[in-house]
Amino acid sequence: MLGIFYIMDKQISHAKYLKGEISIPGDKSISHRAVMFSAIAEGESTIQGFLYAADPRSTIECFRDLGIHIQKNTKNEICIKGKGLYGLKKPSKTLDAGNSGTTIRLIAGILSGQTFSTTISGDEYLIKRPMKRIIDPLTLMGVKFESAQNGTAPLTIHPPKKLQAITYELPIASAQVKSAVLLAGLYADGITEVIENEPSRNHTENMLGLESSIRNGKTIISVDGGKKVFAKEFFIPGDPSSAAFFVVAALLIPHSEVLIKNVSLNPSRTGFLNILIKMGGDIQIENKRENGGEPIGDLAVRSSQLKNIEIISGDIIPNIIDEIPILAVAAAFSENQFEIRGAADLRNKETDRIHAVCSNLKKMGIDVEEFQDGFAFLPKKNLLSNRFESFGDHRIAMAFGIASLALQGESTVRGVECADISFPNFWQILDELQK
Ligand code: S3P
Repeated sequence: MLGIFYIMDKQISHAKYLKGEISIPGDKSISHRAVMFSAIAEGESTIQGFLYAADPRSTIECFRDLGIHIQKNTKNEICIKGKGLYGLKKPSKTLDAGNSGTTIRLIAGILSGQTFSTTISGDEYLIKRPMKRIIDPLTLMGVKFESAQNGTAPLTIHPPKKLQAITYELPIASAQVKSAVLLAGLYADGITEVIENEPSRNHTENMLGLESSIRNGKTIISVDGGKKVFAKEFFIPGDPSSAAFFVVAALLIPHSEVLIKNVSLNPSRTGFLNILIKMGGDIQIENKRENGGEPIGDLAVRSSQLKNIEIISGDIIPNIIDEIPILAVAAAFSENQFEIRGAADLRNKETDRIHAVCSNLKKMGIDVEEFQDGFAFLPKKNLLSNRFESFGDHRIAMAFGIASLALQGESTVRGVECADISFPNFWQILDELQK
């Protein structure tokens, strides 16, 4: 494991049951956006239910360096004094996006509209991830970029005098690319349109109140240059991508009954629930309501014998992109062949998640076939406990933490501290549900 420095390993034994009621921390995608949109809004915003995890903290630090006053009121509430679209100041140092792809890619859109140049970089994982996907459309809008080899960070962003509005058809399904273009569009001359062939999470357009329509099966989102962003009170629901770990845990571990409160049920994020229900999962959605413009609800989950849907591919992939590692774990303990295709972008996440999932599944004794864009396997009885690698990736650590609970015997997950990227109290909840 050259280049990866693990601080903490966790030993996890087979769980007899999981029981209890839990709350999941705030949604990561919405937390990032609430900070960004508050910073460029006119007036003071408060954010309730903010996810105080490493990734959204990186966004906060970037905006502090850009001259925005951000105050932590309570554990989950922050207050931001917005300075309007043109109120950011040139930072005195390179901005640090840490491990966060959402931070670097979305901020790049905002920095493209400023009157100063900025350099932004991140940790040893982020500087390997592709940035050409945002460099290309922002260059079409008139921005000049300096980047490391192969279009990776550090990125130096030189905005033009005035950004050009563009109509941009996304070559890959990505909410981060869509958002970068739309945010730059706030500063452009005219109307910027983004066309998506496969729908991705819609938080940017929802939170900014942008127009979205469907033409010939494609979604078109548009933004008027100069559109003002207004301060408001944000309510952030529980992150469905974080809830997914405990949904799968409760399904896999016999005699379990877990109630997960206040989870976002935004349809662009809940594909994994539909898949698990189709696989025979006993998941009841209770107390459905709306909060801050997002549908939310509680998930009552009971242990179930699952049967795999043979092949998962196509339009559903962007919807479940962050849940594929934990869905693979669910599939490993289920009946029938499992195959996931059309998910090549998983190789560009915090780590190469296709490789990471396949290598840990092999350690469980499963014969996995790895493809460029996915993987396939036939689940086995008598899976093996083992030492699993997190690859420094939060979702891989948590997915194989759940696998370890379901396996007989004792397993170890290496480098579990990375869960702090999106879910700081994950290991604590995992222990508490077994009491
Ligand atoms: C995110 C979009 C997705 C997702 C990431 C968060 C966002 O990335 O994987 O965890 O907040 O917009 P892509 O846009 O690269 O698919």
